[in-house]
Amino acid sequence: MARFTLPRDLYHGKGALEALKTFKGKKAIICVGGGSMKRFGFLQKAEDYLKEAGMEVKLFEGIEPDPSVETVMKGAAVMQEFEPDWIVAMGGGSPIDAAKAMWTFYEYPDTKFEDLITPFGFPELRQKARFAAIPSTSGTATEVTAFSVITNYQTGVKYPLADYELMPDMSIVDADNMMSQPKGLTSASGVDVLTHALEAYASVMATDYTDGLALKAMKNVFEYLPRAYENGNDVEARCKMADASCMAGMAFNNAFLGVCHSMAHKLGAFHHIPHGVANALLISMVVEYNAAECPRKMGTFSQYQYPHTMARYAECARFVGIQAKDDAEAVQKLIAKIEELKEKVGIKKTIADYGVDEKYFLETLDDMCEKAFDDQCTGANPRFPLISEIKDMFLRAYYGDNKKSEN
Ligand SMILES: NC(=O)c1ccc[n+]([C@@H]2O[C@H](COP(=O)([O-])OP(=O)(O)OC[C@H]3O[C@@H](n4cnc5c(N)ncnc54)[C@H](O)[C@@H]3O)[C@@H](O)[C@H]2O)c1
Ligand SMILES: [Fe+2]
Repeated sequence: MARFTLPRDLYHGKGALEALKTFKGKKAIICVGGGSMKRFGFLQKAEDYLKEAGMEVKLFEGIEPDPSVETVMKGAAVMQEFEPDWIVAMGGGSPIDAAKAMWTFYEYPDTKFEDLITPFGFPELRQKARFAAIPSTSGTATEVTAFSVITNYQTGVKYPLADYELMPDMSIVDADNMMSQPKGLTSASGVDVLTHALEAYASVMATDYTDGLALKAMKNVFEYLPRAYENGNDVEARCKMADASCMAGMAFNNAFLGVCHSMAHKLGAFHHIPHGVANALLISMVVEYNAAECPRKMGTFSQYQYPHTMARYAECARFVGIQAKDDAEAVQKLIAKIEELKEKVGIKKTIADYGVDEKYFLETLDDMCEKAFDDQCTGANPRFPLISEIKDMFLRAYYGDNKKSEN
């Protein structure tokens, strides 16, 4: 048996924020981040629409990027007092993730943060409130996923909370909210979307349901990310990227990711490289690695009788318009297309180019490799990696292909 979970409703397209007018309930709390939603007038609009729906509205502002356990607890306390029946989270991945965790502590005030760390061990939500997510970035897709990332700043650990209970009841994907994304955010989160789609498609958990979403998402990224990057006011490109993000999210929510994300998580944690950029620096190498026809070890719960990842990537290549004489050539051309896209949207070539000190990188490398191996994304990768292979990919990503590891 396999499960495929989505939000109950998804409103999309330019101006979709208006869906808030149709909400039924008494009290809504809007959770937002540092100020971009306010600055660009979306917060006011959301408040007005909810009031038009006859609801009393309270704001919880100032959720920081990479939200902390403390912020989550503060928000939950405000919710306890206000008793909303709708939680409306608006902004990037950070405020939406924080609001998901606040929701849990609002519903279950006696829960401890540690109780939530075990994946898929959440209590049943929706006893007090339903949850709406309104993204302002096209990347994390937290508006359609059962995940939330919360940081414990005392220990420096980022906790990925995971449970289908965390799936929003409603998502509103309105490109108007995304027009103001700066170039760096557009490119990094855009390549993150591509990585979500490619990893979900190659995952050992991929199904026909997730495949369709992943393929359409990657096609949209190749066609529209350069336009969204070049001209942030290109409404069609912003809409297509918002859809791509969301579709890739639906795919990876159900098929999970792979070793590119395992490695990117560690590159972000150790060297503060933005998540999308970290993926961008690794994805071509991971595609090449996974496509190898004779892996030393297969995925832990592989459904395949024989390695077929090359054929899977070749399907992706053909879907995005690549013509090739065989699967091997299709994969090579897909990698070239990924590299071309990265260049068009201003992604640099290597980890070194992002200013990571060589000595510090090498000092932290073994620790990063072990932690990447242990990351929860590794389990869904179609090729089960050796730690030495992860190290080799990290080194190639640091130096570029000219200097390879001695392993
Ligand atoms: N839940 C998941 O499945 C999932 C997946 C990946 C990452 N994450 C988490 O999501 C967070 C990152 O989210 P993010 O990349 O969406 O960014 P973010 O929410 O951290 O925001 C980054 C910055 O961009 C600004 N911003 C957001 N939208 C804007 C807009 N439309 N115009 C101008 N500025 C805008 C914010 O104010 C902020 O300063 C991290 O905490 C990460 O760990 C979650
Ligand atoms: Fe990602």
